[in-house]
Amino acid sequence: MSGFIHNHADVDWEALQAAAVQAMERAYAPYSEFPVGAAALTHDGRIVSGCNVENASYGLTLCAECVMVGNLQMTGGGKLRAFYCVDSNGKVLMPCGRCRQLLYEFRAPGMQLMTSQGIRSMDQVLPDAFGPEHLEEQL
Ligand code: THU
Repeated sequence: MSGFIHNHADVDWEALQAAAVQAMERAYAPYSEFPVGAAALTHDGRIVSGCNVENASYGLTLCAECVMVGNLQMTGGGKLRAFYCVDSNGKVLMPCGRCRQLLYEFRAPGMQLMTSQGIRSMDQVLPDAFGPEHLEEQL
Protein backbone atom coordinates (compact mmCIF):
# COMPACT_ATOMS: atom_id res chain seq x y z
CA MET A 1 0.00 0.00 0.00
CA SER A 2 1.35 3.41 -0.94
CA GLY A 3 2.23 5.82 1.82
CA PHE A 4 0.84 8.68 -0.24
CA ILE A 5 -2.72 8.45 0.99
CA HIS A 6 -5.16 11.31 1.46
CA ASN A 7 -5.91 10.56 5.08
CA HIS A 8 -5.47 13.39 7.50
CA ALA A 9 -7.76 12.13 10.23
CA ASP A 10 -4.83 10.73 12.16
CA VAL A 11 -2.63 13.84 12.25
CA ASP A 12 -1.63 14.39 15.87
CA TRP A 13 -1.29 18.18 15.85
CA GLU A 14 -0.40 18.29 19.53
CA ALA A 15 2.53 15.92 18.99
CA LEU A 16 3.67 18.02 16.04
CA GLN A 17 3.50 21.20 18.07
CA ALA A 18 5.44 19.54 20.90
CA ALA A 19 8.14 18.44 18.44
CA ALA A 20 8.31 21.96 17.05
CA VAL A 21 8.71 23.39 20.57
CA GLN A 22 11.49 20.88 21.32
CA ALA A 23 13.25 21.91 18.12
CA MET A 24 12.79 25.61 18.94
CA GLU A 25 14.60 25.00 22.24
CA ARG A 26 17.68 24.04 20.21
CA ALA A 27 17.66 27.21 18.10
CA TYR A 28 20.83 29.19 17.55
CA ALA A 29 19.44 32.70 17.32
CA PRO A 30 21.84 35.06 19.13
CA TYR A 31 21.30 37.88 16.63
CA SER A 32 17.54 38.05 16.24
CA GLU A 33 16.80 36.48 19.62
CA PHE A 34 13.84 34.96 17.80
CA PRO A 35 14.07 31.18 18.17
CA VAL A 36 11.91 29.17 15.77
CA GLY A 37 11.04 25.48 15.66
CA ALA A 38 9.47 23.55 12.81
CA ALA A 39 8.15 19.99 12.74
CA ALA A 40 6.38 17.87 10.18
CA LEU A 41 4.79 14.47 9.87
CA THR A 42 6.11 12.42 6.97
CA HIS A 43 4.07 10.16 4.70
CA ASP A 44 5.52 7.12 6.51
CA GLY A 45 4.74 8.39 10.02
CA ARG A 46 8.07 9.89 11.09
CA ILE A 47 8.27 13.30 12.73
CA VAL A 48 11.09 15.49 11.41
CA SER A 49 12.04 18.82 12.90
CA GLY A 50 14.45 21.72 12.75
CA CYS A 51 15.43 24.99 14.42
CA ASN A 52 16.77 28.22 12.99
CA VAL A 53 20.56 28.52 12.85
CA GLU A 54 21.82 32.06 12.50
CA ASN A 55 25.20 33.36 11.40
CA ALA A 56 27.39 36.40 12.09
CA SER A 57 26.90 37.06 8.40
CA TYR A 58 23.20 37.67 9.03
CA GLY A 59 21.89 36.91 5.56
CA LEU A 60 23.22 33.36 5.75
CA THR A 61 20.73 32.41 8.45
CA LEU A 62 19.09 29.04 8.03
CA CYS A 63 15.40 29.06 8.84
CA ALA A 64 13.98 26.26 10.97
CA GLU A 65 12.21 24.84 7.90
CA CYS A 66 15.49 24.68 6.01
CA VAL A 67 17.09 22.59 8.76
CA MET A 68 13.91 20.50 8.93
CA VAL A 69 13.94 19.54 5.24
CA GLY A 70 17.63 18.72 5.57
CA ASN A 71 16.73 16.38 8.40
CA LEU A 72 13.91 14.93 6.32
CA GLN A 73 16.32 14.02 3.57
CA MET A 74 18.95 12.70 5.97
CA THR A 75 16.55 10.46 7.90
CA GLY A 76 15.02 8.58 5.01
CA GLY A 77 13.58 11.24 2.72
CA GLY A 78 9.98 11.14 1.59
CA LYS A 79 7.22 13.69 1.64
CA LEU A 80 5.52 15.85 4.28
CA ARG A 81 1.88 15.39 5.27
CA ALA A 82 1.47 17.96 8.03
CA PHE A 83 3.53 20.92 9.20
CA TYR A 84 3.75 23.05 12.35
CA CYS A 85 6.04 26.00 13.07
CA VAL A 86 6.34 27.79 16.42
CA ASP A 87 7.92 30.86 17.98
CA SER A 88 9.56 31.03 21.40
CA ASN A 89 6.17 30.94 23.13
CA GLY A 90 5.14 27.80 21.29
CA LYS A 91 2.66 29.90 19.33
CA VAL A 92 2.02 28.96 15.72
CA LEU A 93 4.18 30.91 13.26
CA MET A 94 3.66 31.34 9.55
CA PRO A 95 6.55 30.03 7.45
CA CYS A 96 8.34 32.77 5.53
CA GLY A 97 8.00 32.94 1.76
CA ARG A 98 11.24 31.14 1.02
CA CYS A 99 10.30 28.37 3.41
CA ARG A 100 6.90 27.92 1.78
CA GLN A 101 8.84 27.14 -1.37
CA LEU A 102 11.02 24.63 0.51
CA LEU A 103 7.90 22.97 1.89
CA TYR A 104 6.29 22.91 -1.57
CA GLU A 105 9.11 20.77 -2.92
CA PHE A 106 8.57 18.10 -0.27
CA ARG A 107 4.79 18.21 0.13
CA ALA A 108 2.78 15.03 0.05
CA PRO A 109 -0.53 15.32 -1.82
CA GLY A 110 -2.96 17.20 0.39
CA MET A 111 -0.30 18.36 2.83
CA GLN A 112 -1.74 20.44 5.68
CA LEU A 113 -0.14 23.36 7.50
CA MET A 114 -1.14 24.71 10.87
CA THR A 115 -1.37 28.48 10.50
CA SER A 116 -2.61 31.53 12.36
CA GLN A 117 -5.84 31.00 10.40
CA GLY A 118 -6.16 27.32 11.30
CA ILE A 119 -5.34 24.37 9.05
CA ARG A 120 -4.48 25.41 5.50
CA SER A 121 -3.38 23.64 2.34
CA MET A 122 -0.10 24.23 0.54
CA ASP A 123 -2.06 25.79 -2.32
CA GLN A 124 -3.63 28.30 0.07
CA VAL A 125 -0.32 29.48 1.49
CA LEU A 126 1.60 29.36 -1.82
CA PRO A 127 -0.80 29.70 -4.74
CA ASP A 128 0.40 29.13 -8.31
CA ALA A 129 3.71 27.84 -7.01
CA PHE A 130 6.78 27.24 -9.10
CA GLY A 131 7.74 23.59 -8.83
CA PRO A 132 9.79 20.78 -10.32
CA GLU A 133 7.22 20.30 -13.08
CA HIS A 134 8.10 23.73 -14.53
CA LEU A 135 11.67 22.63 -15.13
CA GLU A 136 10.33 20.14 -17.67
CA GLU A 137 8.56 22.80 -19.70
CA GLN A 138 10.06 23.80 -23.04
CA LEU A 139 9.58 27.14 -24.73
N1 THU B 1 12.71 32.25 10.80
C1 THU B 1 12.54 30.91 10.62
O1 THU B 1 13.33 30.11 11.13
N2 THU B 1 11.50 30.49 9.86
C2 THU B 1 10.55 31.31 9.31
O2 THU B 1 9.71 30.84 8.57
C3 THU B 1 10.55 32.73 9.68
C4 THU B 1 11.85 33.26 10.19
C5 THU B 1 13.86 32.73 11.59
C6 THU B 1 14.97 33.34 10.80
C7 THU B 1 15.65 34.20 11.83
O3 THU B 1 16.62 33.41 12.50
C8 THU B 1 14.55 34.56 12.81
O4 THU B 1 13.44 33.71 12.50
C9 THU B 1 14.10 36.01 12.72
O5 THU B 1 13.76 36.33 11.42
